[in-house]
Amino acid sequence: MSPKRSSRGNIPPFIVMDVMREANRLEANGDAVVHMEVGQPGTGAPAGVTNALHDIMKKDHMGYTDAFGIPALRYRIAQHYFETYGLDVAADNVVVTTGSSGAFVLSFLASFDLGDRVALASPGYPAYRNILIALGINVIDIQTDSSTNFQPTRPVLEQKLADIGGPIQGLIVASPSNPAGTMLTNDELCDLVAFCNRHSIRLISDEIYHGITYGEAAQTALAFGRDVVVINSFSKYFSMTGWRLGWMILPNNLIRSVECLGQNLFISPPTISQHAGMLAFDCKDELEANVARYSVNRELLLRELPRAGFNRLAPADGAFYIYADISELTNDSADFCHRMLAETGVAATPGTDFDLGRGHRFMRFSFSRSEAEIALATQLLINWQR
Ligand SMILES: Cc1ncc(COP(=O)(O)O)c(C=O)c1O
Repeated sequence: MSPKRSSRGNIPPFIVMDVMREANRLEANGDAVVHMEVGQPGTGAPAGVTNALHDIMKKDHMGYTDAFGIPALRYRIAQHYFETYGLDVAADNVVVTTGSSGAFVLSFLASFDLGDRVALASPGYPAYRNILIALGINVIDIQTDSSTNFQPTRPVLEQKLADIGGPIQGLIVASPSNPAGTMLTNDELCDLVAFCNRHSIRLISDEIYHGITYGEAAQTALAFGRDVVVINSFSKYFSMTGWRLGWMILPNNLIRSVECLGQNLFISPPTISQHAGMLAFDCKDELEANVARYSVNRELLLRELPRAGFNRLAPADGAFYIYADISELTNDSADFCHRMLAETGVAATPGTDFDLGRGHRFMRFSFSRSEAEIALATQLLINWQR
């Protein structure tokens, strides 16, 4: 008999990564593929970052840093909160992490015990659920829909608590969200923060899509209370997915345990990426040009996707996704996306990645690539003889 395999490793795949692997395989075989599956900017890191790195590498031997990151970067991130939201954040509360993904592991471990209950919206980013399950934390699904903009507002949360008949220890929100790109209003976010404070629920606010909005700018949960965990990343607005760099703003009572967890799990975030992150804050012009491109792509898709038969689209207030209700086209979004990739070369993600119960009737288009690619994909979809 072979040695055992843990049940904690028995989690669902991150489907978008499976779709990307298939799209990459087709591309390697010489097929043309338009990548609308993965939430990854078509651009690389800003030129101001890449141009300066060679010199930095000559000066710094790229050893480990403090577990919480290079102090100058922690100060720079704290300053970002003043510049962007007018808030004073102490550098001591800033933790640099290995992507926001690393921040999820650290904050979930520091905040929750085995068997605790953490609520999150469905549809939602699949890794929240899958990491929580791997850590032995119970996931409470809050089914959301277009009536609350796919967000778990306070009344929706209260109803859920009444239904399950008991307390929860945590709530994860993302505004703008993935996959719907929808946002909580400031009042709704404030209401949720106050409710979580009153009920000793740890609110974790994933703010990774801040900076990529098409109407009002997103507000940070920190504006409404300091007992929240705020998570952000260099992957989306800063266009640096593969650098694997993110950050958290922690409440005081989590600082030491996150430090001990970080020291043991990761030692420190990648040093070269931390230098890059510091430079990225000075590349606003290039980064804002990226957002302008997403905005053009968004308008094109909202206008043209209905011509391809995709009529029921979430409004995409922010991020770079359009979540489409395709129940008029299929009852099996995985098969639909598979056929779409094979027959048109356009890769997109089935809703089953984001919503276990209803995702078979939805799919997500990412519009983070170039305008030319998105225009081509639109044409291919309009011409697709399903
Ligand atoms: C909502 C959300 N949070 C977190 C992540 C992970 O990002 P990172 O590259 O910072 O680990 C993603 C990636 O798509 C995301 O959509």
